[in-house]
Amino acid sequence: MTGSTNEHHTPRSDRLAGTDPIDAVDAPSSLSRLTGQDRNDPGAVKDLTKESESYTHGHHESVLRSHRRRTAANSAAFLLPHLLSDMTLLDVGCGPGTVTVDLAERLTQGSVVGVDASDEVLESARGLADAHGTKNITFEHANAYELPFEDDSFDVVFAHQLLQHLSDPVAALREMKRVAKPGGFVAVRDADYAAMAWYPESPELTEWNTLYHEVTHAYGFEPDAGRRLASWVRDAGFDPDTIEPGASVWCYATPDDRTWWGGLWAERCTESNFAVQAQDSALADDVALEQLAQGWREWAAAPDGWFAVLNGEVLARA
Ligand SMILES: C[S@@+](CC[C@H](N)C(=O)[O-])C[C@H]1O[C@@H](n2cnc3c(N)ncnc32)[C@H](O)[C@@H]1O
Repeated sequence: MTGSTNEHHTPRSDRLAGTDPIDAVDAPSSLSRLTGQDRNDPGAVKDLTKESESYTHGHHESVLRSHRRRTAANSAAFLLPHLLSDMTLLDVGCGPGTVTVDLAERLTQGSVVGVDASDEVLESARGLADAHGTKNITFEHANAYELPFEDDSFDVVFAHQLLQHLSDPVAALREMKRVAKPGGFVAVRDADYAAMAWYPESPELTEWNTLYHEVTHAYGFEPDAGRRLASWVRDAGFDPDTIEPGASVWCYATPDDRTWWGGLWAERCTESNFAVQAQDSALADDVALEQLAQGWREWAAAPDGWFAVLNGEVLARA
């Protein structure tokens, strides 16, 4: 790993160590400066096209470990009351497919298609469906901006934790609307990083949250997607009268949940694509990333540790 830092600013690792409190409190971070540069000059940090957008987390095992805990009940509860057993459903950005397979098992007379831009996770999703013996499901490679389906194809088009990873979420929502049948459901759910809350207080977790915003902004993505979903859905041309905004929370506070959530984020800080992007953008070096990882391990070990992820949700009609 390259491990560069901005020479005009105290390195993130020193800020955490408290060696320069003035810089730590008052100065814009090196990441904020890069973000501003990026907004004025889209080529400054990365030349990303919609087809080649770099998924912030990548598919390191620590990332998939997070996604594999997801079920229809803990990730799509707002959609479940509207499902009928014979519906057709498309899951856009399905990842390793745990929610997708769960949904297919509820649509006993219907069928489900999961699509993702990563062949690696699609293989994992197919393996999961095989292991479950789920027959009414297929997985295909597809780009959310150019779904390979006719207009008016699905009763339900669903995307879970996808829009925060797209530079143009409104364009993807328009595409989701296109392939949904008239009157069909479009359902989206995304976390909101600025609304995440935790205890005990931790300078490392605060710095992690700041860095996460800086990295995703540098790459043109919006980590505070949850609060923006209804706005994006309106901008995509949905009838405002059909838009049902909401929110729900994941909470990790039991010893098992803390070990899982804290452990996977500790790994993601040093091993995942997030770590690579943080270093490539000169927003953090390997020392700072290891400090953030240690902060996550300490949070996980705290007997009173508590972490809440606020998710925005929207159900709309095509
Ligand atoms: C945070 S994961 C969510 C996975 C799954 N929906 C879940 O909740 O477990 C986001 C997924 O979106 C996929 N993705 C990112 N950009 C995409 C695009 N333009 N088209 C299709 N999939 C995309 C990534 O490969 C990744 O698997």
